[in-house]
Amino acid sequence: IPVEPFDYVVFGGTGDLAERKLLPALYHRQISGQLTEPTRIIGASRSDLDDEGYRAFAGEALSRHLKPGEFDEQEVQRFLDRLHYVSVDASSERGWDALGKLLAEAGERVRAFYLAVGPSIFGEICERIHNHGLVNDNTRIVVEKPIGRDLESARALNDTIGHAFSEDQIFRIDHYLGKETVQNLMALRFANALYEPLWNSAHIDHVQITVAESVGLEGRAGYYDRAGALRDMVQNHLLQLLCLVAMEAPTSIDAEAVRDEKLKVLRALHPINAGNASRLTVRGQYRAGASAGGAVDGYLDELGDDKSNTETFVAIKAEIENWRWAGVPFYMRTGKRMAQRVSEIVINFKPIPHSIFSEGTGQIIANQLVIRLQPDEGVKQWIMIKDPGPGGMRLRHVPLDMSFAASFGVRNPDAYERLLMDVIRCNQTLFMRRDEVEAAWQWVDPILTAWEETDHPCHGYTAGTSGPTNAIALIERDGRTWHESR
Ligand code: BG6
Repeated sequence: IPVEPFDYVVFGGTGDLAERKLLPALYHRQISGQLTEPTRIIGASRSDLDDEGYRAFAGEALSRHLKPGEFDEQEVQRFLDRLHYVSVDASSERGWDALGKLLAEAGERVRAFYLAVGPSIFGEICERIHNHGLVNDNTRIVVEKPIGRDLESARALNDTIGHAFSEDQIFRIDHYLGKETVQNLMALRFANALYEPLWNSAHIDHVQITVAESVGLEGRAGYYDRAGALRDMVQNHLLQLLCLVAMEAPTSIDAEAVRDEKLKVLRALHPINAGNASRLTVRGQYRAGASAGGAVDGYLDELGDDKSNTETFVAIKAEIENWRWAGVPFYMRTGKRMAQRVSEIVINFKPIPHSIFSEGTGQIIANQLVIRLQPDEGVKQWIMIKDPGPGGMRLRHVPLDMSFAASFGVRNPDAYERLLMDVIRCNQTLFMRRDEVEAAWQWVDPILTAWEETDHPCHGYTAGTSGPTNAIALIERDGRTWHESR
């Protein structure tokens, strides 16, 4: 659907996120006809560039990051023509008048400021945007994680942004919410009558959420070593997935209705603290091993610091204390340098109450719904069937298999494409509200404190495996096993 022309100002316009994600995403939106003329994209950063210099930077970025066949000379030229650049300094007055003048040329059209910069300068940028009168009725501000490193700093950051912008102008990105398959969770749950009656503790034994990555530090040592897997992945992406699986049906897909329900889930999470952290959480750090067929360094060598105790893997047994989920554990795990890149949610249904089949017909395996977020996006409902043939009753476990690629054969848009345009449309459903971010920290903070207070061990695991053995023990103690994708 075409949208009215707008201005996107990207602070950190020459940074890694702009180069790898934002510029390619906006290019794809142009191809889809959503960048109506005279939409402009304005790069802003400290680098000393002009429009032409920025266009050269963006052209390079597109040629490096678009997939083969996506780079179309004419389309790219049209895209580059809409780029502008202003050299601005967050901590001085340099460049702000020029930015104001450029924006004023366009009048009152929708204006989005994307802060693709470190959170330490969010405050200064917001203040200057405000002081220079760059906020109009159609202004939005987009902020990237990390929103703080604990509850206190998240509150302070939210206050700072909140001084210049009202909550309905603030878009806190969690890019997992923009992934097609994550949005599909809502369709699966609430556009089918089949699952909802079973979606509770009477029928579901437990839920597993796995976000495994094969990559290591990717040159982000400075940030990552201070964060660790709990802050980097669980506080945001994994908890958001858990909320979408566990929330009650919102009254509509409206932003407030959805976010109200997610918030209730976060607030119902059973607290993890020094008393139970050793039973409910496992930390790990990768050692040297192999990935994608080649030898890779361990975390400490990659980091160049042999003292770091930062976790690159975490597994948690979470419990939601409400009527729907009491007694149903949600096992979550995420890690870097794991055997393969795979994100999936597995809903494990309860076993049948009684078998009418005699021994020798094969084991009856409880039904599983496997929602594969990436790669090979799809949904598999595992069921038992009779093995075909005249040999009598033999049971077999097979999937009803829906693959997005095979069923639709269309390009899977990157999460940022959807989210960048939702900002323009002013649709906050897929963005985190202030209270959600803070409620997530409220649950995560005591885990961090418990780890610190109890000297919680960080177990080594070999790169290219499925994490420390303690994580296997975490679930096997309960008589369950991690689902390994097939
Ligand atoms: C980011 C984390 O938010 O998500 C990274 O900071 C992580 O550490 C990334 O690699 C994973 O995102 P995706 O889309 O590749 O699964």
